[in-house]
Amino acid sequence: MTTSINYEDKIPNNVDLSSDRRLQRALEGWQPKFMNWWGEMGPTLETQGVYLRTAISVGRDGWAHFDHVHVPDYRWGIFLAERDPGRTIAFGEHMGEPAWQQVPGEYRADLQRLIVIQGDTEPASVEQQKLLGLTAPSLYDLRNLFQVNVEEGRHLWAMVYLLHAYFGKEGREEAEGLLLRNSGSPDSPRILGAFNEETADWLAFFMFTYFTDRDGKYQLGTLKESAFDPLSRTCEFMLKEEAHHMFVGTTGVDRVVERSAALIREHDTLDIAPRGGIPLDIIQKYINFHYTVSLDLFGSETSTNAANYFTAGLKGRWQETRRKDDHRLTDDGVFLEKPAENGTWTSEELPALLALNLDLRGEYIADCETGIKRWNRIMESAELNHRFALPHPGFNRSVGVSSGHHVTPDGTIVDEATWQAAKHKWLPTSEDLAFVRSLMRPVYERGKIASWVAPPRNGINGKPFDYEYVHLA
Ligand SMILES: [Fe+2]
Ligand SMILES: [Fe+2]
Repeated sequence: MTTSINYEDKIPNNVDLSSDRRLQRALEGWQPKFMNWWGEMGPTLETQGVYLRTAISVGRDGWAHFDHVHVPDYRWGIFLAERDPGRTIAFGEHMGEPAWQQVPGEYRADLQRLIVIQGDTEPASVEQQKLLGLTAPSLYDLRNLFQVNVEEGRHLWAMVYLLHAYFGKEGREEAEGLLLRNSGSPDSPRILGAFNEETADWLAFFMFTYFTDRDGKYQLGTLKESAFDPLSRTCEFMLKEEAHHMFVGTTGVDRVVERSAALIREHDTLDIAPRGGIPLDIIQKYINFHYTVSLDLFGSETSTNAANYFTAGLKGRWQETRRKDDHRLTDDGVFLEKPAENGTWTSEELPALLALNLDLRGEYIADCETGIKRWNRIMESAELNHRFALPHPGFNRSVGVSSGHHVTPDGTIVDEATWQAAKHKWLPTSEDLAFVRSLMRPVYERGKIASWVAPPRNGINGKPFDYEYVHLA
């Protein structure tokens, strides 16, 4: 059972770590390596204290405590959601059996792999965002960046705990490996492509936290359904933290769109770059890029691995328990749109079990549409005709049925020459990136904000925007 969070231990936890001396010692041996990694690969900007939230309980209410914290002293720990002693497996061939408290031997390798892949993304994003603190548009934004970073660090802890506690020597080796691979490293890169792209500016950060952290939400959602109960419970608590990361992305893009709209109205021109704003077509190109690299994270539309994981009970569907079907899917079919030889789209019927990645991606796309609606409402209320849109899921893909084809944002399959001639209209060019970068100058005076983004509507934890969220060194 879950115990209350113990902050007396070297490693704060609610898993009664002190009752397992071997495990405790192993994790205490990993802790300084984590701190070294944080020092080398974590945020570059040094501060005297950041107004951060720390988990104090995993329950429904009052789980967070806010205070200024010297970031390297942040209490990273191990927090699992409460255990439901009656929990049963909700899908697959073990449906109805009690959830597993230990790893069944036959699924050990697969579960370990799933945990390592999830674990690898968490520190990767911290590495990608390492330099952003040097150019934050306000103290409020700087604080949010640190909050996201420390929580991604904690998500690494969450996966490392599982590896140490349930996967023996191999698990401990994998836990070391999570600190040895680095985002963008030529020799030992992070496992997934999107996590090797640099997050070079704050618009990219907002897009990343909107689109890529949202991919994380859906992946964690499938692992939350897992028959392996400790994985399920850790993912459930991670999802609570993840919600804030997506809030940073959603409201971040809102505020950029709002500011651009205001500048367009004020100067009566779409060419707001000379006024220190980000033109709408650049915002759309950033959407196109971050959305499509995030779609790649869902893997190929058809996957026998995904089918096997589902049947075995390792990984469910998004909101598995709320779905009204047999949760085994052995007789169901779905349709997959794919590019045909003649340059048109064809539809292929597939067993639903093989198309689980497609199913998850569909849930994700529907969720992403809500952001587009928000940003278009901002356009409408500014009485501007421009509308944002998500590109076709075949656009700019490196994984799945559309990789190896050129698909325009509206879904037309085109040849190489057409693609090359037009892609500068759809994806950020080096000039676009250089321009956005040129706007990135730190604004660290209380209550002040950079030219290219509107202030937030509300501060953090009821504090005003001009609160001193970060004490600078
Ligand atoms: Fe995370
Ligand atoms: Fe996140």
